Amino acid sequence: KRLVVLASGGGSNLAALLAAHDDAAYGARVVGVVTDNPAAGALDLAHDAGVASVVVSPKDFHDRSAWNDGISEAVAVFLPDYVVLAGFMRILAPSFVRRYEGRLVNTHPALLPSFPGAHGVRDALAHGVKVTGCTVHLVDEGVDTGPIIAQSAVPVLDGDDEGMLHERIKIAERALLVETVGRIAREGLYVAGRQVTIG
Ligand code: GRF
Repeated sequence: KRLVVLASGGGSNLAALLAAHDDAAYGARVVGVVTDNPAAGALDLAHDAGVASVVVSPKDFHDRSAWNDGISEAVAVFLPDYVVLAGFMRILAPSFVRRYEGRLVNTHPALLPSFPGAHGVRDALAHGVKVTGCTVHLVDEGVDTGPIIAQSAVPVLDGDDEGMLHERIKIAERALLVETVGRIAREGLYVAGRQVTIG
């Protein structure tokens, strides 16, 4: 199966997918990386892995809607079976979500529905939870509200700051994303309302 990965930052989740995709048994290959950020470390990872990448920066477009169309077309060029948002820090328009709905997957560094949005790690820490984690979910037109596919729990330890906690979450997150995307690619994804089953 063909994966297109959208990333905005360092790309440790992308790195994990690139490491897994070399195994033919994994069932999926990253065929394209699309980013909004010309400085994304994800671009270097794609280059080093010999995977095509495209920068679609909001600065290059007249408005948000045009940028969304640009991102949508850039993704389509790669003929994806699945689109994976791995540390992608922009909200995608309903038109994008509808175009890829059912095959658009996101990873979030908290146990949704708790702590959605751009500061899930900070919000969980501030709330004083003892257990947080990460969630792989289908993207719908809300922010981090789509049907949940898989989750992994991560303890909050005394003395954690946001960075320490996020790094601990990212260890679990990378593993969960690689495992979940591989299973979806090999077995398929079935959605009935908010219930998602693989295979
Ligand atoms: C991940 O924790 C992702 O869930 C969040 O930002 C982080 C990105 O990490 N949105 P990376 O760019 O994959 O290293």
